[in-house]
Amino acid sequence: MRKLLIEGKKTLSGSIEISGSKNSTLPILAATILNNKTVIKNIPYVNDVFTMVDLLKFIGLKCHFLKKQKSIQITNDKTNINTVAPYKLVKTMRAGVLVLGPLLAKYKKAKVSLPGGCAIGTRPVDLHLFALKKLGAKIKIKNGYIIASAEKGLHGTNIKFPNISVGATENALLASALATGTTVIENCAIEPEIQDLIGFLRKMGLKITILGRKISVSGKIEPKKISHKVISDRIELGTYLIAGALTSKKITFKNIDTSFIKKEIETLKTMGVKMNIKKNYIEVFRSNNLKKINIKTQPYPGFPTDLQAQIMILMTQATGQSKITENIFENRFMHVPELRRMGAKIEIRNNVANISGPSSLTGAEVMATDLRASVSLVLAGLIADKRTSINRIYHLERGYQDLEKKLKNCKASIKKV
Ligand code: UD1
Repeated sequence: MRKLLIEGKKTLSGSIEISGSKNSTLPILAATILNNKTVIKNIPYVNDVFTMVDLLKFIGLKCHFLKKQKSIQITNDKTNINTVAPYKLVKTMRAGVLVLGPLLAKYKKAKVSLPGGCAIGTRPVDLHLFALKKLGAKIKIKNGYIIASAEKGLHGTNIKFPNISVGATENALLASALATGTTVIENCAIEPEIQDLIGFLRKMGLKITILGRKISVSGKIEPKKISHKVISDRIELGTYLIAGALTSKKITFKNIDTSFIKKEIETLKTMGVKMNIKKNYIEVFRSNNLKKINIKTQPYPGFPTDLQAQIMILMTQATGQSKITENIFENRFMHVPELRRMGAKIEIRNNVANISGPSSLTGAEVMATDLRASVSLVLAGLIADKRTSINRIYHLERGYQDLEKKLKNCKASIKKV
């Protein structure tokens, strides 16, 4: 099995180009089912994107990567469409369930495997199904599959979510794209990735307005040739900003939009991280005398759960006791036992982690459990004494493009073996 070996305590410097957002690319790929010809630019070359493309090909779309241009061309010529998302493609990546909305809207039926649980929690899809039923779908669960139909098509309605879900909001948007009349989605997620999906749907002719946590969708889709550049990955940027705050003489970033990471910037500033910030540019410097902080993970514009594991590493270097309250996923402290083996002082009670610092971390052989937990172990390895060896790195390859190369270019000692 492949491992990542890191020799810690190196001073990093250089520049990192941030890839396109994985979490933007996945729903936009699902949305291409609704269109005829699409070019998506700035896509990250990561395994979750490849899995979604395999799923689109299974459904019958023609997909052609243009690696040099970081883009993909997708054609739906409406022949041989298979309205099924099989278990083998949905089990490795939950976002596969996002094809449910567009398949149902366009072909009036869909059979999509239930994604099942994952390391960070049970992750049900009840909110996705709630929205689709409101739009007029009939849904049964049979043999591990969601079997959905809407013989007369979907109709616009009012969907008020009991809880905020990114994926359910995306499925509701994708399904309402071909519904008759107007759909109003309330208490929805408004992550930048959702705003990007809305930008894409608007290019197809839909009228979409956002007011707080209320989105209204009306108008008619006119399938046509569309080109769309996905936004850059705010979670990748946040991850490398933390790497820079821990280790760097100076790291600069390219292909970014700092307007999406206001909460993250505010948090890092409060901790005493030194940065120079402009709209499309940041410099970050190693920051001594880091201050403790208490944070809560929340839906956007709150602090993202996808950066929780990474900020925890910065907290191990801050003076005093910091606190993280994880409000989104019930089991998202899987990285903590491994960090403790590296010398971190972290106590967990229910959904709260108390992190005491500063503590010196020492290299160890550790095991990654999910995407963001894995990258937090990389950050820990960068500041640990001696060698850290990270197992199960396939998690990293699901969501971080060229992680090893990007860090190596900044003078980190890191290699895959
Ligand atoms: C997306 C992101 C993921 C991020 C998460 C929260 C993608 C591909 N993934 O995941 O990286 O960590 O948002 O920002 O964009 N829930 C239900 N019922 C449902 C759906 C969700 O109870 O039908 C719960 C989940 O278990 C979780 C919470 O709602 O506790 C939020 O999940 P959700 O926002 O749906 O996350 P994802 O869309 O799966």
